[in-house]
Amino acid sequence: MKVLVLPHSTPFERYLPAFEAAGIDMEPLAWTRDLADAELADVEAVLGWQFPSGVAGRLPRLRWVCAVSAGVEKLLAPDLAPHVPVSRIVDREQGRGIAQFVAMMALRHARHLPLYEAQQRDRQWLRVPVDMARNPVAVLGMGEMGRAVAEMLRAVGFEVLGWSRSGGGSLAEVLGAADIVVCALPLTPETDGLLNAERFAQMRRGAYLINIARGAHVVDADLIAAVKSGQLAGAALDVQRREPLPAEDPLWAVPGITITPHIASQSSPETIAAQFIEGLKRLQRGEPLLNVVDKVRGY
Ligand SMILES: NC(=O)c1ccc[n+]([C@@H]2O[C@H](COP(=O)([O-])OP(=O)(O)OC[C@H]3O[C@@H](n4cnc5c(N)ncnc54)[C@H](OP(=O)(O)O)[C@@H]3O)[C@@H](O)[C@H]2O)c1
Repeated sequence: MKVLVLPHSTPFERYLPAFEAAGIDMEPLAWTRDLADAELADVEAVLGWQFPSGVAGRLPRLRWVCAVSAGVEKLLAPDLAPHVPVSRIVDREQGRGIAQFVAMMALRHARHLPLYEAQQRDRQWLRVPVDMARNPVAVLGMGEMGRAVAEMLRAVGFEVLGWSRSGGGSLAEVLGAADIVVCALPLTPETDGLLNAERFAQMRRGAYLINIARGAHVVDADLIAAVKSGQLAGAALDVQRREPLPAEDPLWAVPGITITPHIASQSSPETIAAQFIEGLKRLQRGEPLLNVVDKVRGY
């Protein structure tokens, strides 16, 4: 079975030992721009993060697409045949990594660490005691990541208000009841740009935003305006609308906004390879695939 590996942050060669050890009928092929249609004609499965433009439509025998990530939006290409299932990696370890990142940023904010860092820069030993963090935190999206985030936030003392499509009440009420808002939503047409001026105005004055989901959930200009006006105290953005974030992007220089380069948590190449191989075995045996997304809903 020929499988096409699309380029992403893990080099193709990192998967080869696991693929070779799997002992199944598979012929891995690394995507390059100069691959001819004849070489793509018998590709049956794809592993990747994003379809290069026009590639999905050049795979007439495609039976399965597997994302290397939790989010699949970049693989839902318009030329992907409707009958081809798309699945994703579901990795508990990754969820715990995301939860650690969120807990770190939430505690940093709630326990006023930037204040003490500023004091240290001024060699100022000034006690401004901070209470234990018990703040209400709204977690938008209670899926694999959101649930792990909620569990860890509760463990360190925060109160968690979960919100999802299927529960949690009105978004405006949830936003208005929290000191910290965590975005753990999938990027879909419904959630693109959800965190905009109207939503920032519904948050408590001085609230803090943590986005570990996708950059396009946030309307950057509205966020910058909200932080500069003091409506929001700041934000931790692990993901940005444009990645890598260009050096000239205004987000870099807003006091209170912390940028990290999409590092909150990744699945290891070994985990990705293991779940992909399991999927190939299921495909070959005619068994149902795991972690298949609803392509219409987008997650
Ligand atoms: N920064 C990183 O390194 C990193 C790592 C992993 C994942 N991520 C990102 O994290 C996000 C969450 O991933 P996941 O694996 O937790 O996703 P998931 O398991 O698919 O969960 C999605 C959650 O969002 C909710 N949801 C979807 N559409 C909604 C809508 N329109 N309104 C309200 N709620 C909605 C779902 O509600 P229901 O439960 O009601 O269906 C579900 O609770 C994704 O964007 C993913 O790409 C980032």
